[in-house]
Amino acid sequence: MVREHTIAVLPGDGIAREVIPEAVRVLESIQDVQDERYLKFKEFECGGEYYAETGREWSQEAERFAKEEADAILFGAVGCLDDDDNPIRLPDGNLAGYSIALGLRFELDLFANVRPVRLYEGVPTPLNIKDDTEIDLVIVRENTEGLYSPVRGTLTRCGNQEMAIDVRTISRRGSERVTRFAFELSQKRNGAPSDQVKRVTCVDKSNLLAGCMLFRNVYNLVAEDFPDVERDYQYVDAFAQGLVLKPSRYDVAVAPNEFGDIVSDVGAAIQGGLGMAPAASIGEKRAVFEPVHGSAPKYYGQGKANPIASILSAAMMLDWLSDRYADKNCASGASAIREAVADVLREGKVRTFDICREKWSDVNPASTREVGREIAKRAQQNIQER
Ligand code: IPM
Ligand code: MN
Repeated sequence: MVREHTIAVLPGDGIAREVIPEAVRVLESIQDVQDERYLKFKEFECGGEYYAETGREWSQEAERFAKEEADAILFGAVGCLDDDDNPIRLPDGNLAGYSIALGLRFELDLFANVRPVRLYEGVPTPLNIKDDTEIDLVIVRENTEGLYSPVRGTLTRCGNQEMAIDVRTISRRGSERVTRFAFELSQKRNGAPSDQVKRVTCVDKSNLLAGCMLFRNVYNLVAEDFPDVERDYQYVDAFAQGLVLKPSRYDVAVAPNEFGDIVSDVGAAIQGGLGMAPAASIGEKRAVFEPVHGSAPKYYGQGKANPIASILSAAMMLDWLSDRYADKNCASGASAIREAVADVLREGKVRTFDICREKWSDVNPASTREVGREIAKRAQQNIQER
């Protein structure tokens, strides 16, 4: 008997409601041609829209299932607008949907936010590079502390908001586990595209910030356990430049939370845009898989959104399940999906509007669903041909 993995599917708001079903479609269709079914999906509504209707960000059942029962969570994005086009907020000022988007990272202690930046052949990049294989790195962003940890407050005097403070927390434990994760990841990869050297770049601002000095000291201690991986250091500003000027020298980069957030959007841009950027938030035992892009409420309902970021996030979920449970179906499913994405992009005919640029500007944009179906079909074929 194969182990059945239970998956909480939380599409959320806006275009995420269009792209997550395509990721599920791809996962369902590979199982159709594999020996057994090994994923059990349970889908729940959640986010800003749900909050506007019910006064809760998600049902108690959804919250319980996601936090306590699910083996993995496939999440879209949250955030929606009211009639005046203002984001819907909770009474505490946080965006409606915060408990799911950010809350889960803290509550499930998902300390590593993993953002692969890979340029697939046939995807337009704003960089002037000769070879698509020049961009293949992973940004590992600390996910539970830094400037985004919920340690903040405002000072109000006579009803006026006079001051606001966000505390940037960096701990030894937080730095140790995320840098170790980055080194272990580098060990499993093939090195940087430019020289095939396994390398972890420590991205910080340790010329200035105490938290970053601690982060770098801990990085150095952890690095001693990985003599086969090269150490590399860059201040975050220089790293942002480096991503644009010479991305091929990077293999894995590790950064505190807010720096990782910012540079991973640079990463998304060079890999063809947010529609191409998958992500995972990974902890000791639990993990959430989600595209980097948000809910883009203005595009919702047009069938235009690129589902590839979500489909690649689903492949990351299979990789993670495969590592955790030594599950061969998951491993072969993940590679079949990535190959399918690569094939569809290389051929270039079926693609959403965001990547119909440059050489591909004459291509008639396909819908979210058409792209999802095409990738699902190819992924099935890849499995059958093995
Ligand atoms: C991301 C997003 C979130 C983050 C926002 C919505 C708070 O930008 O996942 O990168 O910064 O964590
Ligand atoms: Mn972000």
